[in-house]
Amino acid sequence: MQVIKAKLKKLPVEYLWDGLVLTDDLYNHDGNVLLIPSGEEITQKKLGRLLKFDSDSKHIMVYEESYYKILAKGKIPHEVHQKMTEDETGYTEIKKDIGYVLHKASTEEKIQSEEVEPVIHDISQRLEVVDPTVIFECINFPRPMDEYLQRHSLNVAFLNGLMGEWLKLPKEDVRTLVMAGLLHDVGKTKIPVEILDAPRKLTDEEFQIIRSHPLYSYELLGTDFDERVKFAARHHHEKIDGSGYPDGIEEGEISLFAKITAVSDIYDAMVSKRCYKEEKLPFDVLENFYNGEYDGLDMDLVMVLIKNMREHFLDKKVLMSNGNFGTIKYIPPNDIAHPVIQSGKIIKQTDERWFCEKLISTY
Ligand SMILES: [Fe+2]
Repeated sequence: MQVIKAKLKKLPVEYLWDGLVLTDDLYNHDGNVLLIPSGEEITQKKLGRLLKFDSDSKHIMVYEESYYKILAKGKIPHEVHQKMTEDETGYTEIKKDIGYVLHKASTEEKIQSEEVEPVIHDISQRLEVVDPTVIFECINFPRPMDEYLQRHSLNVAFLNGLMGEWLKLPKEDVRTLVMAGLLHDVGKTKIPVEILDAPRKLTDEEFQIIRSHPLYSYELLGTDFDERVKFAARHHHEKIDGSGYPDGIEEGEISLFAKITAVSDIYDAMVSKRCYKEEKLPFDVLENFYNGEYDGLDMDLVMVLIKNMREHFLDKKVLMSNGNFGTIKYIPPNDIAHPVIQSGKIIKQTDERWFCEKLISTY
């Protein structure tokens, strides 16, 4: 029988578990060799033996339906799933390099543009080849305390890059915007960790210290940095009504790059899982954005984020609250938190009893 390769999806072999039985055939990494026929129980031992002579023994291919089932219900530990996704997207490597930049920032008075260039190059390349859904998945993963700043810096860099592309900015500007996202919080390396990670309510004095981080970011960036990067770092907590910090400037005085960084910054903070809060589904965060719940942002830019994310999520797979799979068919602009889902023959809007449990990102 002819294998329809277009319908096959690639997965790391570790995503399978002993005892799994699929209703479709399972193939090797390029779909040319049938490894395990449908209905036969899979064991790692059996697979390992079959893959031993394959040129890529780390991946297999399965049909779409099985693929979604594995991704949604996989029994692999969450940390393994996280690590594999991050390795595959290059997120792990870039994160390490950012760790180096942040370490430098914590020990020196200035950092130079050329020290950051290689990381910017890597992120820009990744933006071109990695499906944004996978980037969103990396953004949603829980962050260990000691990695929070690395991850946040990288996520805001990615989001800034996507915003730049959606705004159709020239390629060089998108790069600069990525750099602004990467470095906006670099001044946090000058804030004592006991304050940054304090698991309690901060005192007024401590709060003031935290609020000084945009200025530290600005001062850390040497004279060879593009001014737009420096001012995005300085002004990413300014608000258009003038109630932000550190300079209290208003709409017309805040640069475009600072306004974009503010939107990316808030999106990343909202969808991320932290030790004290669960992550929110992107639909709910976009709904909050739409309702103006995060004040001080440029609403034109917020609408660019919402419009593009809405389009992006169309036709994506979701796991529904009743355990079935669905596909996002429509996201009402005035009710983003309740998308219209097709699940089998049913097509309807979600509600409190039938809702999206999680997005299933393509690998
Ligand atoms: Fe910040």
